[in-house]
Amino acid sequence: MYEMISLPYEIDDLEPYIDSKTVSIHYNKHYKGYMDKLNYLLNKNNYNFNDSKELLVDNISMFDMNDRGEILYNLGGVLNHELYFKTMGNSNHQPKGEILRLINRDYGNYNNFKREFIKISNNLKGSGYTFLTMDKDNKLFIMNTSNQDNPLYYGYKPIMALDLWEHSYYLKYYNNRSDYINNFFNIIDFNNVNREIKKYL
Ligand SMILES: [Fe+2]
Repeated sequence: MYEMISLPYEIDDLEPYIDSKTVSIHYNKHYKGYMDKLNYLLNKNNYNFNDSKELLVDNISMFDMNDRGEILYNLGGVLNHELYFKTMGNSNHQPKGEILRLINRDYGNYNNFKREFIKISNNLKGSGYTFLTMDKDNKLFIMNTSNQDNPLYYGYKPIMALDLWEHSYYLKYYNNRSDYINNFFNIIDFNNVNREIKKYL
């Protein structure tokens, strides 16, 4: 069985930008739901749980053809929520180190990057995510995915995630998704983003 990650902060640490009730439901209901379903499907396929979850993406053909779509959907639900929860925190809100170097190299400066990320997020149609990723040459690339698709499915390495499903923001922001998107930049923990980058270097 795969285990849920613990939140790297207290349930109310993202206040006032994301309320504790939203964080609690998001973690205990939505994320847990994807994890339970993923474990159920993998057990059903007699999987031995020896690989990392990321490796399952490349090895999806080992599972019953009829289960592959649902495994990828729930695997995405797990990977995406884990990256989203890890992207945020209560400190290190200004980029430093490797992420700052990459942002300056690929976007000129942090403000340009932020403007571009916000523009692309606002452009997402339906339910999905905005990711900061690295391409095969480790160049930064911002991309939206639909539903629970993870950038690994398209050959991109995700290092930062913004959940744009309504359950991420609706209790506090109602239909004002763009306010949630703007406020996300007050709670990014760039030390955690640097940790994700290191996985791929
Ligand atoms: Fe979510």
